[in-house]
Amino acid sequence: MFRSAIALIALLSSSIATASAQTAPAARVASPDGSVVVELSTDNDGRPAYAVSRKGQPVIAPSRLGFILLDAPKFERNLVIGNPRTRTADDRWEQPWGERRFVRNHYNELTVTLKEKARPFRSFDVVFRVYDDGLGFRYVFPDQPDLRQVKISEELTEFTLARDATAWWIPAGEWNREEYLYHRTPVQEVGDAQTPITFKFDDGTHLSIHEAALVDYSGMNLTRVEGRKLRADLTPGLGEGKVVRNAPFNTPWRTLQLSDDAAGLAMSSLILNLNEPNALGDVSWVKPMKYVGVWWEMHLELKTWASGAKHGATNENVRKHIDFAAEHGFGGVLVEGWNVGWDGDWFGNGEDFSFTESYPDFDLPALSTYARSKNVVLIGHHETSGNAAHYETQLRDAFALYQRVGVPAVKTGYVADAGQAKVAGTDGKRHYAWHEGQDMARHHMKVVTEAARHRIAVNPHEPIKDTGLRRTYPNWVTREGARGMEFSAWGQPGNPPEHEANLVFTRLLAGPMDYTPGIFGMKTRAPDGVATTWAKQLALYVVIYSPLQMAADLLENYEKNPAPFQFIKDVPVDWEDTRVLNGEVGDYVTIARKERGGDNWYLGALTDENGRALTVPLSFLDAGRRYTAQIYRDGAKAHWKTAPQDIVIEERAVTRTDTLSLQLAPGGGQAIRFVAQ
Ligand code: NOJ
Ligand code: CA
Repeated sequence: MFRSAIALIALLSSSIATASAQTAPAARVASPDGSVVVELSTDNDGRPAYAVSRKGQPVIAPSRLGFILLDAPKFERNLVIGNPRTRTADDRWEQPWGERRFVRNHYNELTVTLKEKARPFRSFDVVFRVYDDGLGFRYVFPDQPDLRQVKISEELTEFTLARDATAWWIPAGEWNREEYLYHRTPVQEVGDAQTPITFKFDDGTHLSIHEAALVDYSGMNLTRVEGRKLRADLTPGLGEGKVVRNAPFNTPWRTLQLSDDAAGLAMSSLILNLNEPNALGDVSWVKPMKYVGVWWEMHLELKTWASGAKHGATNENVRKHIDFAAEHGFGGVLVEGWNVGWDGDWFGNGEDFSFTESYPDFDLPALSTYARSKNVVLIGHHETSGNAAHYETQLRDAFALYQRVGVPAVKTGYVADAGQAKVAGTDGKRHYAWHEGQDMARHHMKVVTEAARHRIAVNPHEPIKDTGLRRTYPNWVTREGARGMEFSAWGQPGNPPEHEANLVFTRLLAGPMDYTPGIFGMKTRAPDGVATTWAKQLALYVVIYSPLQMAADLLENYEKNPAPFQFIKDVPVDWEDTRVLNGEVGDYVTIARKERGGDNWYLGALTDENGRALTVPLSFLDAGRRYTAQIYRDGAKAHWKTAPQDIVIEERAVTRTDTLSLQLAPGGGQAIRFVAQ
């Protein structure tokens, strides 16, 4: 008793203050540069907790670990922390495609065993990997006689912020899945939130909580218990608990990315690093590309997915898109509404979709052959309406068809309200499910691995959240999973000018997004139309990373505006390197990227509803080189609401010793192509 009191005093005077009766840390691990420190302790009842500090300041106060089980006693107290094992890794791996070619994976790892002090002496391990830019930890359930099948009704992992912070978050459990506008509130006003969730402490330190490698488990949301204490809230399952697994198994990694500033968060590769290496071998068949599509015209209600007079996916319209793609150097043409099933009430139903039968006015083999003759490919589309069970009955045939006719990528879709997806239960019946529950995690894995067998890349909309699995399955190239540009077509409201500045530091920390930028026709069905300037539309190609990147507007809007369109034609989708140069969550950001396989650099800067000037040193450019900067900037009158199309295009010679002052209009941006001389 006396000894532990001394230890407690010592701990209190160190950086991590503890409010409850935690005893001295039983284990500790620091990041390679020592800045991030994790300490593990138990309280007097044997409840385990972890705490995190960064640069000597507490970030996460002691926060509990453990589980409530469905058919076994809870697993969260009377535990002893023992058997610590440490390990260090420092390696570098190469991305087949990505925002940078090489990624350094440098961490210190601590594994401990938490074992019950009394019968039945069950145990689980917790593995911490601590990086200079944050940490991940996961639970490992060993195979043990008293816990063979694990039915988890709650994961009790807590994240108690040690200090006040501002939070950016979207609500969890609401009908429109991930498609919400971001809230900016004190941490004490967070409700049930999705991850990634981003925080800024008063000293400027940024924290983002998310997860990595969500495999055969349910997606984690956070619920605020009290004060600054958030707790994991797993997505519900089919009634047998939120997760059912046979031991041995791992949970996904719970991730905390940490940085001095917002830009540092967006530079982190922590989530990718925590995923397993490429499991597919040679993936040279996965080709990043820009694409156009039979798409925006449906969202503007000029055309329909359904058959009839306004059908969009006709041979004639698709050929027009193929010709345009070939002429302007686009790799792909997405076609939606090509297959039978769109004529009834398809939303949230999906039972009528065929993934092999085309409408009669769409000749899939002929169009694909025509496209290929022009060095263009078709991008397929599988809208499932969330009916994963129905889709799975056709999955193999659907991908075999696309492989046969030469369609190398498919956009999938799960349009159904949250909780209204449908999966096949073990009873053979269809059950309603959440988009991010364990069954849908399994479904997405089934789709991605089946697609890989047919050498097809996948781009899900209304997806499960991104947790970095593109490292392991590099054909899982991109996804939606937030409010995309479609909301600027018909949203009530549409996406406001701050939306993309929020996405960069929240959703996009999880991975690539098929945002579908590039709109010049700003008047739409949304009350404010497309709430950006043209220059900002161009900047989005650099700011929002996606290996499949759409030029989403009607072709005629590009034909009418060849000068700004030139940037969309020039900008690459695969990068050697990425530098996030500045930014504040929800306010502005500037990102520079170097193309893969070339010498040119590209820069995108964007702002929210406030105009601003950003000073950008060009020190990222290669030493000893001269560049012609092709600048696409907001004009003097530019304003997202009154003069979005006011754009100035000009050239200037620069080197890495120059500094640019970027003038961004309200809702504006700037895009620059630095052509190496
Ligand atoms: C929602 C997707 O986000 C959108 O891109 C697609 O056009 C529709 N569903 C129809 O599948
Ligand atoms: Ca959507």
